Amino acid sequence: MSVQARDLAEEFVFRFGRTPTVSRAPGRVNLIGEHTDYNDGFVMPAALEFATLTAASQRPDRRLTVYSMIMDETREFDLDAPPQGASGDWSDYVIGVALTLEMSGRRLSGADLIIWSDVPLGAGLSSSAALEVSVAHALLSESGLEFDPIEVAQICQRAEDDFVGMRCGVMDQYISCCGVAGHALLIDCRSLSSRHVAIAPNLRLLIANSNVRHQHAGGEYNLRREACEEGVRLLSRLIGPITALRDVTPEQLEAKRRKLPELIYRRCRHIVTENARVLEAERALNAGDFVACGRAMNASHVSMQKDFEITCPEVDMLAGLAQTVKGVYGSRMTGGGFGGCVVSLVEASAVDKATQILTDGYRIATGLDTDIFVCAPSDGVRLIPV
Ligand code: GLA
Repeated sequence: MSVQARDLAEEFVFRFGRTPTVSRAPGRVNLIGEHTDYNDGFVMPAALEFATLTAASQRPDRRLTVYSMIMDETREFDLDAPPQGASGDWSDYVIGVALTLEMSGRRLSGADLIIWSDVPLGAGLSSSAALEVSVAHALLSESGLEFDPIEVAQICQRAEDDFVGMRCGVMDQYISCCGVAGHALLIDCRSLSSRHVAIAPNLRLLIANSNVRHQHAGGEYNLRREACEEGVRLLSRLIGPITALRDVTPEQLEAKRRKLPELIYRRCRHIVTENARVLEAERALNAGDFVACGRAMNASHVSMQKDFEITCPEVDMLAGLAQTVKGVYGSRMTGGGFGGCVVSLVEASAVDKATQILTDGYRIATGLDTDIFVCAPSDGVRLIPV
């Protein structure tokens, strides 16, 4: 199903009898920098052409009526008598964002909303952040309130942490708010500043979905966070006060290796070396040194596989297959882990070959089908014409 803004607006007129505004917020692919965001570190995502659209129109009261075209379900909320906690379904993201916006001191108008998305669900391409950001943008526009992209990214992250109960970092919401067409963003997750990194016109971002999502992903994600926090506690005693693994160099970590439990050491090693790889990838892309960028991506995959242990056989297979193709500079799992997608940096002329090798090789090795998307970095959230 492909629904453009106009179709969404027509559905809106049919259901609510008014013409809506439409906010569009993209999903993302992360080129490099995994699990570094909640360690105050560096990440380098790009916004995708896949996006969530929220059609919205203000109501005179303080009620929210939300229809999801994907789920074919409607939910209603009263901002003056909100639910006390999450219900465990898609609407948690909507009401969680609304309530967190209110907690930040903004007073929202009620609104009717229709939501549609083509961001693949559960594939590690940030369907949740796209939903949160498009809803935040729609609610703020309909309430006549200003949209501050970085602050809204933090509010959406807080909604997911506090209301939905997933302790994510800020990367996904940040890039959905601030993405720039043709570019990845190097985001410093401590200062929340970012730099544009152009993706050269001869390059393509090729995403291969393993179509596997391991059940324990959420719990394992939080366990990785706890291991990093334990690393900070132990290293603070060994090298002096630090607030995050961002403050530790690979050399400092090596010097204290024997004083750390082996597992904590490996978790920390992923983070401190990954931060260095993100900066190297930025340098390499800016210098046109795609081979060096690809090398950093491949090393990132190994680090996620061996040290952080967040890959799985299916994504290892996809990354391994892609890395054999001439014209593929580098390939790695992208996103939180335990399934989802692999991203490869590819010469445009090698896209067909890489697609064929990934499709055939993955089916032979696993009996599963991969879905391949060739993506151009797109813009962050905005109103689109209807
Ligand atoms: C998920 C989280 C992000 C980030 C990535 C891993 O996408 O939402 O904040 O931690 O995993 O890099």
